[in-house]
Amino acid sequence: MLKKKWIQMGMLCLSLWMLAGMGTAFAVTSKCEECHLKISPMMVKDFNRSKMAAELSCENCHGEEHKSEKDVEKVKLPTIRTCQECHQEQAEQYLSGKHALGLTALNAMPYTHGQPKAFVEGQKGCGGCHTLGLAEEKDRQTEGRKYYRYGMDCQNCHTRHAFSADEAAEPEACMTCHTGFDHAQWEMWSGSKHGVTYLMNRAIDIDEKNSERAPTCQTCHMPEGNHRVFSAWGFLAVRLPEEDQEWMGYRATILKGLGVLYPEGKPTPRLDVVKAGKVARLDKAEFDAERKRFTDICRKCHSPNFVNENMKNADKMVKESDKLLAEALEIIAGLYKDEIIPKRPDYHAYPDLLTFYDATTKIEQTLYLMFMDHRMKAFQAGFHINPDYSTWYGYANLRKDLVEIKDLAKKMRAEKGLAESPEAKPEVKPEVKKDAPASK
Ligand code: HEC
Ligand code: HEC
Ligand code: HEC
Ligand code: HEC
Ligand code: HEC
Ligand code: HEC
Ligand code: HEC
Ligand code: HEC
Repeated sequence: MLKKKWIQMGMLCLSLWMLAGMGTAFAVTSKCEECHLKISPMMVKDFNRSKMAAELSCENCHGEEHKSEKDVEKVKLPTIRTCQECHQEQAEQYLSGKHALGLTALNAMPYTHGQPKAFVEGQKGCGGCHTLGLAEEKDRQTEGRKYYRYGMDCQNCHTRHAFSADEAAEPEACMTCHTGFDHAQWEMWSGSKHGVTYLMNRAIDIDEKNSERAPTCQTCHMPEGNHRVFSAWGFLAVRLPEEDQEWMGYRATILKGLGVLYPEGKPTPRLDVVKAGKVARLDKAEFDAERKRFTDICRKCHSPNFVNENMKNADKMVKESDKLLAEALEIIAGLYKDEIIPKRPDYHAYPDLLTFYDATTKIEQTLYLMFMDHRMKAFQAGFHINPDYSTWYGYANLRKDLVEIKDLAKKMRAEKGLAESPEAKPEVKPEVKKDAPASK
């Protein structure tokens, strides 16, 4: 069926080419292009930059029903399935990876639904990065898409209408979303030895492709153009099972803070939502397989020993960060227990990390920064080899947050006329070496 269409198109190409009497371009021109050249000339020009312009025309993605300014509502906006017709492999890989769960994960957050639509459902707030995984035409008709009907995944790296593979292969293609506050991978990578080496070589030695000597985001996350992105730890860096018992203690506290475990350790209904969005890693075999995908790539340029040491040390940064976060969570849980912070209707004995910035007390706002800003930077920069981000934007701030949380807790207790309750004493004590010089 498709083949037939192609042959027809090929013949059309050929006849147009013969008519035009020139061999410079095979581009199919159509009624759509003629009119759109007047309305939006740069868009038509962009499309003609694309390799697809040699064989496709506007109709292939937008349908044939809209023919003039009077029937614009009949036009189709393409979805992943539209591209899948011709790019089966890339679409399938993409749909099996983490990107395609972007909207599921967003909707799994309990407080997303209380945000103004303008900051979620348009292509400007959360939805600007998270409107992902809408594969079917009918997804365009859903309630959310009534607010804003544009947005589809493939153009996130292959910008319309040039749809270029070369463009998507450059690390800047990831920058718009993987930047800033809670996922500053762009800043971490571009300032790392990897990023700097890549960018320098790209600038000085483009022709010889010397740029390949240091890895980009795509080298590690989309090897051989594989469109399935997935990392072992993931965004939240929460995995089960955990072999290290001390670490498991911190993890249990964090899982309670995430609202997926009740204080006595049983799973809450939220665990299912977390599972559906693959927000936490709950399978050791899967974790190990994802980890191996990375280390195999590193080994193309580094020794196995070097790679293992680096991975091991980055994992330890997650643990050290978890230790501080868990201590903070237990202090605030103590405030709930003693009813110094009034209980929320959905309260189950722990502050809810997933409220993000909707946390209602100052102490929980600090906890939010600890969790989303500083812990993320501390461990993500470990994997992206950026000591500045790990230390000064990450770990140093975690320590500062904890001091503030302790101080605020003390004041809140004092205001209620309560002394520091023994239960509120953190289970996790900061480690101070006896022979260490007096700490600052
Ligand atoms: C006679 C002129 C004309 C022709 C022919 C035409 N269009 Fe359009 N098209 C328009 C105008 C005008 C708009 C802008 C509507 C608006 O945004 O107000 C438009 C809008 C669009 C949009 C964007 C719709 C949106 O809601 O943002 C797409 C996609 C589109 N056209 C594709 C096509 C395709 C594909 C064809 C050929 C099958 C085609 N057009 C033929 C005039 C034309
Ligand atoms: C009707 C079939 C068809 C559809 C539908 C289609 N493509 Fe293509 N695509 C092609 C063909 C043919 C090529 C050119 C292959 C070549 O020359 O190697 C191509 C090439 C590409 C390339 C590689 C360009 C390069 O620089 O090498 C990208 C990226 C791409 N398409 C993305 C998309 C996206 C995104 C969509 C959906 C919005 C889409 N395609 C829809 C047929 C299609
Ligand atoms: C390979 C598929 C493909 C082809 C071919 C294609 N488009 Fe598009 N077009 C898209 C995608 C993807 C979007 C973005 C849809 C969204 O955001 O929901 C889009 C969006 C648009 C829009 C609305 C967005 C805007 O920036 O205004 C217009 C208008 C449009 N296309 C016109 C055209 C015209 C004219 C042609 C032919 C010259 C064409 N398209 C060919 C895939 C295609
Ligand atoms: C996260 C970024 C990203 C997204 C989103 C993305 N791609 Fe790609 N795409 C790439 C990269 C990177 C390459 C490989 C470029 C290279 O090395 O030449 C690529 C290459 C391609 C190619 C060329 C393959 C070849 O062998 O020539 C096609 C076709 C393609 N993508 C289609 C799609 C389709 C369809 C979608 C949506 C389902 C999509 N891409 C979404 C990053 C992306
Ligand atoms: C349109 C915004 C956008 C662009 C562009 C983008 N991403 Fe993403 N990426 C996201 C979002 C949102 C998520 C989280 C998805 C989820 O919630 O399931 C994500 C998740 C990921 C993950 C999975 C992390 C995990 O939890 O395991 C990796 C790896 C990733 N992206 C790499 C890339 C790379 C590499 C590029 C560029 C080639 C890129 N992304 C481009 C928005 C984007
Ligand atoms: C040298 C390889 C390498 C490069 C280059 C690289 N990453 Fe990563 N990335 C990793 C590793 C390793 C992890 C953690 C893997 C694990 O969990 O085992 C990771 C994790 C991630 C995650 C999940 C959360 C996190 O940060 O730990 C995202 C998202 C991500 N990278 C995006 C990017 C983006 C975007 C770029 C480019 C700006 C990039 N990465 C560059 C190796 C790389
Ligand atoms: C600038 C783009 C951007 C914006 C805006 C954004 N996110 Fe994200 N979000 C991402 C990226 C990229 C990731 C993946 C980061 C990683 O793995 O390190 C992500 C990850 C997530 C995750 C974890 C997904 C998972 O499965 O690991 C949740 C939940 C989330 N975001 C919720 C939100 C909410 C709620 C908002 C709005 C209040 C929002 N995001 C705004 C880009 C964005
Ligand atoms: C495409 C080759 C390539 C890949 C793949 C690669 N690296 Fe590198 N790496 C380099 C280059 C080149 C440098 C800069 C060497 C220097 O500092 O002299 C570097 C530097 C480093 C550094 C900092 C410098 C040092 O010696 O301490 C670390 C750490 C590192 N890489 C770890 C990794 C890890 C972990 C992975 C996989 C997640 C990885 N690399 C993947 C090429 C690569």
